[in-house]
Amino acid sequence: MIEYATQRAITTEQFIQLLKSSTLAERRPVDDQACIEKMVNGADLMVTAWQADVLVGVARSVTDFGYCCYLSDLAVAQSHQRQGIGRRLIELTRAQLDAECKLILLSAPAAQSYYPQLGFCRHPSAWVMG
Ligand SMILES: CC(C)(COP(=O)(O)OP(=O)(O)OC[C@H]1O[C@@H](n2cnc3c(N)ncnc32)[C@H](O)[C@@H]1OP(=O)(O)O)[C@@H](O)C(=O)NCCC(=O)NCCS
Repeated sequence: MIEYATQRAITTEQFIQLLKSSTLAERRPVDDQACIEKMVNGADLMVTAWQADVLVGVARSVTDFGYCCYLSDLAVAQSHQRQGIGRRLIELTRAQLDAECKLILLSAPAAQSYYPQLGFCRHPSAWVMG
């Protein structure tokens, strides 16, 4: 059984392990401990999924809770993918935000066809610096 949490702290080691077990580590700075610590400690909203005491999913966001929420990292362990955990993590993230708050993200190539299924619209004028 999977349990979800919005207030449960995770360690940098748990976060790195999940990035690796989900494959998202290929696109995240898992060898830069200082940056990973900032990602874990500086997040405004971290929704997590647990099987017993094992972290199997995370939605890590930076947000003001009212206007915009950047969903930076959505990851589900490969052993637990396609069971609805990613969908639930996004639902629980949205439940923490005001109704008008926009959820914004950059999709990994492998997830390009995932987000439209969950109701996301591609934005034609997104820009990134750095
Ligand atoms: C992308 C990811 C978060 C999806 O999580 P998940 O728990 O496996 O997804 P869900 O089970 O909630 O899937 C919801 C729906 O999307 C579909 N889906 C899942 N992964 C998909 C993918 N990569 N591409 C297209 N559709 C996908 C599911 O079949 C499901 O459809 P259904 O509701 O009709 O059954 C997960 O596969 C993952 O961690 N991938 C590696 C890291 C990554 O790419 N993260 C995204 C970074 S932007």
